[in-house]
Amino acid sequence: MKHFTQFENITTASALIDQALKFKENPRINQALGQGKRLGLIFLNPSLRTRVSTQIAASNLGIESIVLNMDKESWALEMHDGALMNKNTVEHIKDAAAVLGSYFDMLAIRAFPSLTNKGEDSDDFTLKQFIKYAKLPVVSLESAIRHPLQSLADMITIRENLSTKSKPKVVLTWAPHIKAIPHAVANSFAEWSIGCGYDLTIAHPEGYELDERFTQGAHITHNQDEALADADFVYVKNWSAFHEYGKIIHVNQPWLLTEEKLKNSPQAKVMHCLPVRRNLELSDEILDSPRSLVQEQANNRIYAAQAVLKHIIS
Ligand code: CP
Repeated sequence: MKHFTQFENITTASALIDQALKFKENPRINQALGQGKRLGLIFLNPSLRTRVSTQIAASNLGIESIVLNMDKESWALEMHDGALMNKNTVEHIKDAAAVLGSYFDMLAIRAFPSLTNKGEDSDDFTLKQFIKYAKLPVVSLESAIRHPLQSLADMITIRENLSTKSKPKVVLTWAPHIKAIPHAVANSFAEWSIGCGYDLTIAHPEGYELDERFTQGAHITHNQDEALADADFVYVKNWSAFHEYGKIIHVNQPWLLTEEKLKNSPQAKVMHCLPVRRNLELSDEILDSPRSLVQEQANNRIYAAQAVLKHIIS
């Protein structure tokens, strides 16, 4: 594995989950492995969990990490090849990524979508420009269309909480929000759940269909109650419309997940990637109950990142 940007196959995913669970038992077991290696963490957008968990993961492996908040602390980047740079952009990605490539052994990039240019977002244009010009192994810290480190942490969390059922019912349910939110977490969760062989149901209001590249193999419904019945894991997430790209479509029915809605799935564990808007996306009663796995998911971000970094430097 040279880059870590998406689900590859079940063999790689299982190996990463196994490795992450070993690191969770003994985080510093490979402290010498990364001696002399340097990781650049490049953020074009805000982060709490991804930034800190990846730094801790690097430290556990003896890797030096340096964070660059490119959105606030660096030059405005021109992403388009052949551009006449006579407006606001100051440095071309071709030059900046090449410089970063000479400073580091690996790069990790967070680059959200524009939610206005569907073509470029769908092609993961910004992430691909970094990969093209840095010429180093690149880890996605969430791109325009995927959040693979989050999904790996989610798969670790599901593995840890599996009952004896061989095929748990996993549900991804849309939640309300006041802003236009990217599709990356939902896309990736679908991609990894289906890839790991889980029985995935996606529930969302009409108009909130996701990109079919990520949802083939899932059962898709507009009926949240039907989706939630007998669920083992319920992943709550908002996303904006994909077909009416980046739009918020008004929804009449209440989609906030509450205890009442889980009355037919007493065993269901509830997941969310965080940050969460309490009582808008998910109720306090669920987030603060034993059903909630959200803190465990956030904790597992460390071991997910550590397993990926080990895989790349090995
Ligand atoms: N879940 C997640 O990626 O959190 P941050 O945006 O805070 O990194």
